[in-house]
Amino acid sequence: MDIQDLGALPRQIDEAFTKFPAIDAVIVNAGVQILLDYTADNASTIGYPTTADITKEITTNLTGPTVLARCVIEHFRVSRPSQASLLAFVTSGLGLVPVTMLPIYCATKSALHYFTVILRNQLKNTAISVVEILPPYVKTELDVAHADEMAKRLGGKKPQGMPVKEYVASVVRGLEVTEMDGKIQKYVAEGMPRAAVEAWVQAVGPMARMLHTDL
Ligand SMILES: NC(=O)c1ccc[n+]([C@@H]2O[C@H](COP(=O)([O-])OP(=O)(O)OC[C@H]3O[C@@H](n4cnc5c(N)ncnc54)[C@H](OP(=O)(O)O)[C@@H]3O)[C@@H](O)[C@H]2O)c1
Repeated sequence: MDIQDLGALPRQIDEAFTKFPAIDAVIVNAGVQILLDYTADNASTIGYPTTADITKEITTNLTGPTVLARCVIEHFRVSRPSQASLLAFVTSGLGLVPVTMLPIYCATKSALHYFTVILRNQLKNTAISVVEILPPYVKTELDVAHADEMAKRLGGKKPQGMPVKEYVASVVRGLEVTEMDGKIQKYVAEGMPRAAVEAWVQAVGPMARMLHTDL
């Protein structure tokens, strides 16, 4: 399905659950990354943020996943009222540690990170595990168009990137780890994103608890 087609998502999720009623896990993985600079001019190697670019990145990375979440939760609560199910979102270490060339990407991943935390709190008395997957740098199509430019601007060589197969195996292992309450661990992360999310939980966790939010 096209996650940008917000109007079609409820029907498409209904169709998926009708066709495959045993669905017990949904991983919201879709994402786009666009290099943007609000000061760009014609000579710039980074694009000026057009409304189309901004809308595409926010709809794909944030609005779509939040609408999809509602549709999936409605089904899980009917099809698996007390049996375990998984709703996972793929965010990014760049949602916690921003990089200057990706203003909308970092904003959407940061927002999706907070959304995931809040959703997990709202669903704490249900059988649904809400999980955030924070990948390290993985060798995919995400940045093929701009990886060289980013590396140049960061003053280093293009990083290697973990092979997809290796990373997927690692995520599957991560999804097998459960917490005290029997739910799947909150954050499936390694490397820099793991360090960033642990630092964030440690720093902000006590203040969040005052607002009855568990990180
Ligand atoms: N690679 C990394 O280092 C890295 C690091 C942190 C986070 N992430 C996140 O990981 C996720 C997967 O990205 P990737 O690295 O695998 O990049 P990718 O190779 O470019 O894959 C992006 C995926 O998103 C899908 N997608 C894009 N727009 C969509 C839309 N409108 N509707 C439905 N699907 C759409 C693509 O589907 P099609 O193939 O059908 O276009 C593709 O499956 C993203 O959320 C990304 O932000 C990646």
